[in-house]
Amino acid sequence: MISNIEIQRIEKSKIDSVDFNNLPFGSVYSDHMLTCDFKEGKWQSPKIEPFAPIALDPSAKIFHYGQSIFEGMKAYKDTKGNMMLFRPLENCNRLNKSAERLVIPQIPEDIFMDGLKKLLEIDSSWIPTNDGSSLYIRPFMFATGNGFHASPADAYKFVICTAPSGAYFAGKIKVLIEEKYARAANGGVGYAKAGGNYAAQFYPTQLAIEKGYNQVIWTDDNTHQFIEEAGAMNIFVRINDTLITSPTSDRILDGITRKSILQIAADNGIKTEVRKISVGEVVEAAKNGNLKEMFGAGTAAVISPIAGFGYQENDFDLPELENPYAQKLKKLITDIQTNKAEDPYGWRVMV
Ligand code: PLP
Ligand code: COI
Repeated sequence: MISNIEIQRIEKSKIDSVDFNNLPFGSVYSDHMLTCDFKEGKWQSPKIEPFAPIALDPSAKIFHYGQSIFEGMKAYKDTKGNMMLFRPLENCNRLNKSAERLVIPQIPEDIFMDGLKKLLEIDSSWIPTNDGSSLYIRPFMFATGNGFHASPADAYKFVICTAPSGAYFAGKIKVLIEEKYARAANGGVGYAKAGGNYAAQFYPTQLAIEKGYNQVIWTDDNTHQFIEEAGAMNIFVRINDTLITSPTSDRILDGITRKSILQIAADNGIKTEVRKISVGEVVEAAKNGNLKEMFGAGTAAVISPIAGFGYQENDFDLPELENPYAQKLKKLITDIQTNKAEDPYGWRVMV
C-alpha cells in the first residue's frame, strides 16, 4: 500500500449540478483526478487534486509523436453502498503492455491500484447506482518530455479521471463491414490501447456514419476477408447456437469483457468457438437464416447488440430473437460486476 499520496481537495463539489438520472457517456467528470509524474528516471509521489486542465509545453512529445496510451474501466456501487471494480489488475497489466510497445515507462501496480482506490473513496458519491449507469474510469499515460527529436520522451504523466456515465450506445447498432481501411496491421500497435489507434478509426467510421451506419466492423488488413473487431469493441457472432469470436493477435485488443464472456458463456451451456470468422460465412449465414446474433463487447458498451450489417452495398438484417445470448450474457456479467450475483471467478474487487 502506498502511503504517500498527497491529497488536495476541491473547494466546492460540482456534484449538485449533475443529473444522475440522465447521464451521458464520458462527458461529465468527477471532482478529483489522480496524477503522477515520471521524471529523472523515476515515478514521483502520486497526487489527488481537483479535476482541472493540465498545462504542457508546446514541445511536449505527446503533441508531435503521439506517445499516449489509455485504459477503460468501471466502478459500481451496490444497494448497500459497497464499491467495486471488475478485474482491475487486468487493466493495469494491459496498460503496461501498451506502455512497453510505445516505450512509455511501466506504471507500478501499487500507484495504479492504491491510487485508484483512494480516488474512488474520495469521489465515492460520484458512482451512480441507477441500472445501466456506472463510474467510467479513464487511466492514461502520455509523454510530457520535450523535443522535436523523433525519439521517446524523458518525462511522462499518469492520470486517472472518472466520469459518471450512462449507456455508450442508445440502442442496437448498424455496422458496416470494412473493405478498404484497416485499424491495425501485423507487427503494429493494434493490441495496445494507443490513442493513435482510435484517431486512425475516425475517418473510416465517419464515412460509415455518412452512409447511415453507427460503427465499422474491422477486417484483417491483408485480405479484408476476416472480421476482427467492432469499432472499439471485440466482436461476437452467433451462427445457429454457437457463439464465435476472433482469436486475439497483434491486431486485436485482448478485451477483458471478451474473455469474461467466453468464460461465462461456456459455464452457462453456450457452445463457444475462438477462431477466424470469414466475411463469406457471415454473409452466407445471414442469407440462409443461420446468423442469429452479432454483438460488440467492451467495458464502455458492455454488450452492444447489432441490428444489421452492410457489406458491398448490400444490407443484411439480423432477426429479433426472444431470448438472445446478448441479453442473457449481459445480465450474467453485469450482475457479477454490480454485486447482484455470486462471483465464482473472483473477478469482483471491493474498494
Ligand atoms: N477492442 C478495442 C479496440 C477497444 O478499444 C476495447 C475497449 O477497451 C475493446 C476491444 C474491449 O476491451 P475491454 O473489454 O477490455 O474493455
Ligand atoms: C472501453 O470500452 O472502455 C474503451 O476504452 C473504448 C473507448 C474507446 C470508449
